[in-house]
Amino acid sequence: MELTLDRLTRQFGSAIAVDRVSAAFAPGVYGLLGANGAGKTTLMRMICDVLKPTSGSVLWNGKPIEQLGADYRSLLGYLPQDFGYYPDFTALDFMRYLAALKGLDKHSARKRSTVLLDMVGLADVSKQKIKTFSGGMKQRLGIAQAVINDPKILVLDEPTAGLDPKERVRFRNLISSLAQDKIVVLSTHIVSDVKYIADEILMMRAGSLVMTGTVEQIAAGIRGCVWEYRVTPQEADAMAARMNVGSLHYDRSGMAVVRLVSEARPHAQAHSVEPTLEDVYLHLFNEQSGDAAEEKEAYHG
Ligand SMILES: Nc1ncnc2c1ncn2[C@@H]1O[C@H](COP(=O)(O)OP(=O)(O)OP(=O)(O)O)[C@@H](O)[C@H]1O
Ligand SMILES: [Mg+2]
Repeated sequence: MELTLDRLTRQFGSAIAVDRVSAAFAPGVYGLLGANGAGKTTLMRMICDVLKPTSGSVLWNGKPIEQLGADYRSLLGYLPQDFGYYPDFTALDFMRYLAALKGLDKHSARKRSTVLLDMVGLADVSKQKIKTFSGGMKQRLGIAQAVINDPKILVLDEPTAGLDPKERVRFRNLISSLAQDKIVVLSTHIVSDVKYIADEILMMRAGSLVMTGTVEQIAAGIRGCVWEYRVTPQEADAMAARMNVGSLHYDRSGMAVVRLVSEARPHAQAHSVEPTLEDVYLHLFNEQSGDAAEEKEAYHG
């Protein structure tokens, strides 16, 4: 089982959304990390054969997917970023309906719908209309529908959008349990969504993969360039305005503890610290990822 991207490219007019992306996926969990507009959705839509590349190709076991057509699509499970629900359907009816569309017979459709709703924690509300669901409940339903045909390739576009921290932990466990013998590709801009469960991270920026590897490999890439030091709150404010301060918190004495990525020692008192995936993200995208606060807490206990 191998999914290969070979110089996959997509332009919209003169703008290049995905630029010669090459990658290989064996069974496992892949975290596609990137800021808004990086090209994650465009890449995933090409993997799912809903958008044609301008050039390059997607290969399944060495064969271009346009040659495989429906045979390839039957191996796919996809949660689009803008997934449309049917508000007046109950969760169970929705699942059975999609099961029928995917060609499951009535009996298997019923059985599988019930099993999956139970797995995503929606068994109790399976007979409620989807319009009564919270954002997190809808996302879980979205994940359940994506695996209804027991796909070999599962593509989830920002599956944790709108989930609260507790739901995100639950989601991570769900993905880990689903991932056996599948290729799971999920996009996010929340580092902690993929930090613990992804076998490999793909960092995407402006249409290109700028770094790929395990969490450890990617973090190691900036070893020696992550620094922490204490300054007064006034100094910290002044610095934040002119440097890419990754994180800032205050210790008991009211001093600011600054953490940043820099090739040169940024301050005489700065000491080098072990890099995390979060540091790399900040460094590459020059912005706070959604869970910076959470990460800081975890880091400083
Ligand atoms: N159908 C389209 N027509 C024109 N431009 C598009 C289209 N789809 C995407 N783009 C452009 O391609 C680039 C990549 O968009 P894409 O949606 O793939 O990014 P993304 O990484 O998924 O972003 P986000 O995190 O916001 O979901 C953006 O500049 C976007 O404006
Ligand atoms: Mg997107």
